[in-house]
Amino acid sequence: MSDGKSVLLGVSGGIAAYKSAEIARALHVDGYRVQAVMTRAATKFITPLTLASLTGNKVITDLFADASPDETLSSAIEHIEVAQSADLLLVAPATADVLAKFALGLADDFLSTAHLAFEGPLVLAPAMNTRMWEHPATRENLALLRSRGARIVDPDSGELACGTIGPGRLADPALIAGAVRDALREDDDLHGECVLVTAGPTREALDPVRFLSNRSSGRMGFAIAEAAARRGAKVILVAGPVGLPTPQSCERIDVVSAEEMNDAVMSRFDEATVAVMAAAVADYRPRSTSPQKLKKRDGIPAVELEETPDILRSAGERKGQRVLIGFAAETEGLEENARHKLLAKGCDLIVANPVGGSTGFDVDRNQGLLLSTDGDVVRLDPMSKGRMAERILDATAELRRRKAA
Ligand code: CTP
Repeated sequence: MSDGKSVLLGVSGGIAAYKSAEIARALHVDGYRVQAVMTRAATKFITPLTLASLTGNKVITDLFADASPDETLSSAIEHIEVAQSADLLLVAPATADVLAKFALGLADDFLSTAHLAFEGPLVLAPAMNTRMWEHPATRENLALLRSRGARIVDPDSGELACGTIGPGRLADPALIAGAVRDALREDDDLHGECVLVTAGPTREALDPVRFLSNRSSGRMGFAIAEAAARRGAKVILVAGPVGLPTPQSCERIDVVSAEEMNDAVMSRFDEATVAVMAAAVADYRPRSTSPQKLKKRDGIPAVELEETPDILRSAGERKGQRVLIGFAAETEGLEENARHKLLAKGCDLIVANPVGGSTGFDVDRNQGLLLSTDGDVVRLDPMSKGRMAERILDATAELRRRKAA
């Protein structure tokens, strides 16, 4: 069931910390490798020995253990490596303090440091006093974490240790273990789907040596192709001219111009159940291409442009039951322009990217908004293109499930 996957189990300091033993046991029984990390406060509620015995692994208790500076450094590096190699980070119980630290991106102990160093799925099972749970600060922190992709296993209602009655009691350990299983099972949630992805720029020839193009690196589209293949989909990747290796298990069709990209997409569209148009297709091309190199002696050429085929729009017209996803790179009016494109081009989702700064075109990271036809707007904070690909595919898988139902 677990495929030997590993879970980093963060335990923070609340009365419910003792229940982490039950969660660790359930995960261990399911076959997951469990590495427990306890905050200093958690060790006041349950001993590391309990979790070590249940998981069969030494428990990480602090970033700066009582050791010599050299040992401290090597063990901190080693621990961060352990954290980064995990397949999922679960924090149960997650106190209001941990939620606030994660939301802010603080890194003042091992668990909060591991959280920042970790890029995989995050599951949080909060537990706290009802007033703390209902405080606007906690609500906002949770909303922020959710918008970054964290899964929240909501606490139960009931009588709490402090005597109050209301929400705040840690969810049932079996439910929490189930949420972990679900989050990891998503790995092949696109099994049976055929995902057609466009990526990179196009080049529109002016003459045999010159062309009109743009700064797209193709990395976003390639990240989507790679993630979709890993999640079990058959992937057809239509790539403009980019210097990127073909992701594993993807069929790649190299094209140069918008016309060629359009032909490739349209000829394979029938096979697709999902189409993700991440390419930065040139909107215009020279009306005529000179068969010979334009010479300076002939004077400054007047280049007349014409429109290229709008691939996404044509795909929208042929969409049927497919899930269609577009991108909108904007320098202004991000949400408004993207929403207009979403509707005008018949997409189910559109990823709106602000252009400029250290995210977007030709860089490793990206950010933006994910807009859907039902009016939802999810903020995508700056993250790696790999992580963003996963977020887009989470929404895709959900839409496919809804359309199939
Ligand atoms: N797109 C396409 N074919 C084109 C132009 C764009 O398939 N000829 C797709 C892109 O792959 C992207 C989406 O349409 O998914 C939006 O592209 P963008 O260039 O931002 O939008 P445009 O339609 O060109 O609108 P505008 O020029 O007003 O920004």
